[in-house]
Amino acid sequence: MHKITLLPGDGIGPEVTASVVAIIDCAGVKVEWEKHFVGSEAIARSGDPLPQEVLDSILRNRVALKGPVTTPVGTGFTSINVRLRKTLDLYANLRPVHSMPNIITRFEDVDLIVVRENTEDLYSGLEHEVVPGVVESLKIITERASTRIARFAFEYARAHGRKKVTAVHKANIMKMSDGLFLQCFRNVARNYPNIEADDKIVDNLCMQLVVDPNQFDVLLLENLYGDIVSDLAAGLVGGLGVVAGANIGENGAVFEAVHGSAPDIAGQNKANPLALLKSAVLMLLHIGEAASARRIEHAIVKVLASGPEHRTRDIGGTGTTSDFTAAMCETLRRGMRAND
Ligand code: NAI
Repeated sequence: MHKITLLPGDGIGPEVTASVVAIIDCAGVKVEWEKHFVGSEAIARSGDPLPQEVLDSILRNRVALKGPVTTPVGTGFTSINVRLRKTLDLYANLRPVHSMPNIITRFEDVDLIVVRENTEDLYSGLEHEVVPGVVESLKIITERASTRIARFAFEYARAHGRKKVTAVHKANIMKMSDGLFLQCFRNVARNYPNIEADDKIVDNLCMQLVVDPNQFDVLLLENLYGDIVSDLAAGLVGGLGVVAGANIGENGAVFEAVHGSAPDIAGQNKANPLALLKSAVLMLLHIGEAASARRIEHAIVKVLASGPEHRTRDIGGTGTTSDFTAAMCETLRRGMRAND
């Protein structure tokens, strides 16, 4: 029995997490979910959008599955996602971006890994008003964080048979900050002679990605560029509804979809649980449930091929969240009965 912290979040979060919890159960994985509220729901209950008990739960279980959480724009509480990653030092954000069968996009066979530094850069939250009408936002880049994320990217590449790591930067303009990030990357790359290491300026990378994504393998980015480029990469394979994410550190790992709380479709049974489900597949691999992860991956392929009524509208289907969940469970149960 695995003990896993469950943070349903808000907006479409509770719908997609309920779907994924049901599918994991149908796959036969025994999990005791420790459910906690974060964001506005937690403020209503305890006054804190990220209560200490949530952090304690993740530190204890060392693994969490998280739905999206709405962050107020301009005012209100700071992003609990950023706080969670910084407080638990979940320094590596991993986003595998793969083409999916029966999801029609401009490119076939996209197979990219986006590795994003998760704890510093312009997301350090260091902003202040210098004088009225002038604000300053500080970009923090350190040798320590840049070196460990570069090492993470190369270690990932080595463990998964990847051939190339491309560092993405704007060191032509931000010579010191992005210059340091790039220098750390080059220092680390020397220890991995069998993996090709190159770099691209971020604006050029964006253009190259939408023209020919298959020229890239593993992309390594600072926090802000990583945030933007991973959404761009998601667009290459069918959008935010299909791409998985994981935030990994020495203290634990939080698995979550790339997308947000999608307030425009919340509560309407329209949300696509696939991105969170694929994040859960990464989670199952992380906790040693490789066979169940594979079963779910095979079932996803079958369900996506089985007709538009089992897919949600964002990926060209006519079905609901519940239709997808039911089709996944039915496929998993049938597969398990066949193996009995
Ligand atoms: P969003 O990702 O919530 O939505 C963008 C568009 O994609 C919307 O049209 C939405 O309907 C669609 N979409 C997103 N996920 C979908 C899914 N699973 N199935 C079908 N369609 C889906 O981005 P937006 O609107 O910029 O952000 C909304 C809120 O989410 C904000 O408060 C933002 O701060 C928060 N957010 C939270 C994240 C997290 O908790 N990890 C990540 C990104 C945003």
